[in-house]
Amino acid sequence: MPNLFDPYKLKSVTLRNRIAVSPMCQYMARDGVVGDWHRVHYASLARGGAGLVVVEATAVAPEGRITWGDVGLWNDAQAEALRPIVEGIREAGAVPGIQIAHAGRKASANRPWEGDDHIPDGETNSWTTIAPSPLAFGGGLPRVPAEMSLADIARVQADTVAAVERARDLGFAWLELHMAHGYLAQNFFSPISNHRKDGYGGSAENRARYLLETLVAVRAVWPADRPLTVRLGVVEFDGNDAMLEEAIALLRRMKAEGLDFVDVSIGFNTPDAKIPWGPNFMGDIAARVRRETELPGTTSWYISKPEEADALVRDGKVDLVMLGRPLLADPHWPYMAAKALGVENPAWATLPAPYAHWLARYR
Ligand SMILES: Cc1cc2nc3c(=O)[nH]c(=O)nc-3n(C[C@H](O)[C@H](O)[C@H](O)COP(=O)(O)O)c2cc1C
Repeated sequence: MPNLFDPYKLKSVTLRNRIAVSPMCQYMARDGVVGDWHRVHYASLARGGAGLVVVEATAVAPEGRITWGDVGLWNDAQAEALRPIVEGIREAGAVPGIQIAHAGRKASANRPWEGDDHIPDGETNSWTTIAPSPLAFGGGLPRVPAEMSLADIARVQADTVAAVERARDLGFAWLELHMAHGYLAQNFFSPISNHRKDGYGGSAENRARYLLETLVAVRAVWPADRPLTVRLGVVEFDGNDAMLEEAIALLRRMKAEGLDFVDVSIGFNTPDAKIPWGPNFMGDIAARVRRETELPGTTSWYISKPEEADALVRDGKVDLVMLGRPLLADPHWPYMAAKALGVENPAWATLPAPYAHWLARYR
């Protein structure tokens, strides 16, 4: 079995190790356009040694932003601003990936550190949200979304394809469709938020239709040699035991349509979930999804110790680990992890020269 520090090859892409930067919204864009903050942030994460850097949830349309500070990819100005980020990640030896998203009924919220709640109707930066059914998330997100018409569904799918084409043309090598965390795709997949009576609601097959159709449309424009991946919320921790089976069935169908890899995550589609937060609590669920779908995959959530991350890969539970907060806390986590586990000088585990001279003997 490979270890955390071995390269990972999927289609035409080779990652220098199996440590990936999980997509993390910075909520620092203006009109969906990235700026200095993002350029520094992504370049430093890539320099830190990760093999893959997945750029944060990037909205396909203005109403699909979680907050007004989200990155977008619905126009050319947004695309041009992302170009130096793709280059900065590549120059630092990592592979640039991007997560493409629509926030559905959770959109139009305040930034997390400014409340994380829906901005009241009529106030600056509030807008009409859309979702499969006119059902609010609840809690701090009480806005009732407008029910999407069939034309709305076709429009968001077309917006998704257009954003993916822009990402493709920018040279992103790894694509993750955001189908988790209570955003639009998850809204369709979940019986909590989808009460539709048409072909997009009701049975598990109908609730999966929006996700599968979107994947097929994206596969048609995303190059065959670049990994197409989804982040799917496979469990809700709300007592709905059928969800994991439904997710596995959907992923098998997606695999048949050209899905290459799965990022196993949580539904976050209800405020009433009882999530068993703890070290590496998604590892065994990810392993089951990987085994039963025969898709390569990953997960994240509280994988913070080098030994835990390495064991997940060595035990064949995941092909790579997605880390979020550990890499915010220390972008050089990969280098430090290699040192901690006694891995001798893998080719990528070099700090940038202006740091290396000082840090080589520091810890
Ligand atoms: C600041 C921040 C922003 C996040 N934004 C996103 C996002 O854009 N897309 C997404 O799928 N998950 C997002 N997440 C979740 C992370 O990708 C990751 O799954 C989560 O933080 C768990 O991993 P960790 O325990 O290593 O932090 C975010 C998390 C953080 C901390």
